[in-house]
Amino acid sequence: MDVTTRIGVVMNGVTGRMGYRQHLLRSVLAIREQGGVPLSDGRRVLLEPVLVGRGATKLRELARRHDVEHWSTDLDTVLGDPRWQVYFDAQLTSVRHKAVVAAIEAGKHLYTEKPVAETARQVVELARLADAAGLRHGVVHDKLFLPGLLKLKRLVDAGFFGRVLSVRGEFGYWVFEGDGQSAQRPSWNYRKQDGGGVVVDMFCHWNYVLENLFGRVRAVTAKAVTHIPRRWDERGEPYEATADDAAYGIFELDGGIIAQVNSSWAVRVHRDELVEFQVDGTEGSAVAGLWGCRVQHRSMTPKPVWNPDVPTTERFRDQWAEVPDNAVFDNGFKAQWEQFIRSVAGDGEHPYDFYAGARGIRLAEAGLRSSAEGRRVELEEIAP
Ligand SMILES: NC(=O)c1ccc[n+]([C@@H]2O[C@H](COP(=O)([O-])OP(=O)(O)OC[C@H]3O[C@@H](n4cnc5c(N)ncnc54)[C@H](O)[C@@H]3O)[C@@H](O)[C@H]2O)c1
Repeated sequence: MDVTTRIGVVMNGVTGRMGYRQHLLRSVLAIREQGGVPLSDGRRVLLEPVLVGRGATKLRELARRHDVEHWSTDLDTVLGDPRWQVYFDAQLTSVRHKAVVAAIEAGKHLYTEKPVAETARQVVELARLADAAGLRHGVVHDKLFLPGLLKLKRLVDAGFFGRVLSVRGEFGYWVFEGDGQSAQRPSWNYRKQDGGGVVVDMFCHWNYVLENLFGRVRAVTAKAVTHIPRRWDERGEPYEATADDAAYGIFELDGGIIAQVNSSWAVRVHRDELVEFQVDGTEGSAVAGLWGCRVQHRSMTPKPVWNPDVPTTERFRDQWAEVPDNAVFDNGFKAQWEQFIRSVAGDGEHPYDFYAGARGIRLAEAGLRSSAEGRRVELEEIAP
C-alpha cells in the first residue's frame, strides 16, 4: 500500500514577511522536516513547494538556502503545470485577487493570507468560482491556533463562563515612524492606496476570533484614525501615512454579547502580551493572550468597594489562576496548513473557507464605513 501521497504547492509571495517566516519556514518546510502531514488512516502527505515571485535573485537564494528544488518568476507557467495542485498566496493584498482568479482557472485548490481580496464582494465571487470548479478554498485564521486562544476555547466549550456578557480586546504596540529607528512593519501598511490600514489588517482577525469563540458579528460601531500622519519608508524617504493606524471598535454579537476591541500601532504596551482579550461571563471571567490565559471563577471573585480616599491595597492581578497548558502547542500557521492539506487529501474538514474570509473583510469595510459616517452599521449575511 502507498503510505505517502505528494501534494505540490505553489507558494507565491515567499519573499515577504509572512510568506517567508510563517508559511515557508515555520509551516511548509517544518512539515517537510517532520515527514509530511499525517492522515487519520496512517498515510502521510508530503508537501513539495515551488517558490514563486517577481525577483529571480531572491528566489534562487531562498531555494538554495532551504534546499527547495523548484522556483520560478513565471506564475502562468507554474499554474499550467499539473504537478502543483495547491496555490498559496501571501503577496500584498492588493495584487492577490488577480492571481487567485488565475489559480482557479488553472484548477488549483486555494489557500491564502488574509484578507483574501480587497472587498467582501470580490471574496464571495472567488468563493463561488472555486465552488463551481470543485476546488477547496481556505484563508489563514492563525490567531485561533494560538495557545492562549485554544485555552479560551477550552473554557468556552466547558461552559466555564456561564452566559458570556462581554469581550474586551486590546491589541497593539508602538510601530516606529521610521526616522531615527527603522519601522518594524512594511510601509505599505500605512498607505491606503497600497491596501494598508489597521482596520483592514485586524478586523479580519477579530471577525474569525469572535465568530469561532463567541458568536457571529451582527453590527459594528467604529472609529478609525491616523494618529501618526508622516512616516519614513524602507529607503528612509518620508511619506504621508494615508491609512488608519488605530481603530476603536464595538462589535455586537449573537446572544447579545458586546465585544469592544482597540487595535493600534500607536500605543505603548502595558500588558502581559501584544494582544489580550478579557471575557466576562455570569459564572467566571478570563484574560487570554497569545500564550497565557488566566481565570477567575464567580466563587473566587473579590468584592471591591469604591473608595478614592484610601490607596488600593488589594492585588487584583494575583487573584486570578493560570490555565495549565495540558498540551504541546504547535506553530499556529503550521497547524492550520496541516488541517487544510488534510481536507485537500479528503481527510476531514477545513471550515475556514473564503466565505469566512469574506465575512472578515466585510467587517473591515463596515468598520470603515461606520467611522466615516459616524454611525452603527449592521452586517448582511454572507453564506455559500
Ligand atoms: N496572518 C497574519 O497575522 C498577517 C500578518 C501580517 C500580514 N498578513 C497578510 O500577509 C500578506 C503579506 O503581508 P507581509 O506583511 O508579509 O508583506 P510584505 O511586504 O513583507 O510581503 C509582501 C510580498 O508580496 C510581494 N509583492 C509586493 N508587491 C508586489 C506586487 N506589486 N506584485 C506582486 N508581489 C508583490 C513581495 O515581493 C513580498 O513577497 C498581506 O496580505 C497581509 O494582509 C497577515
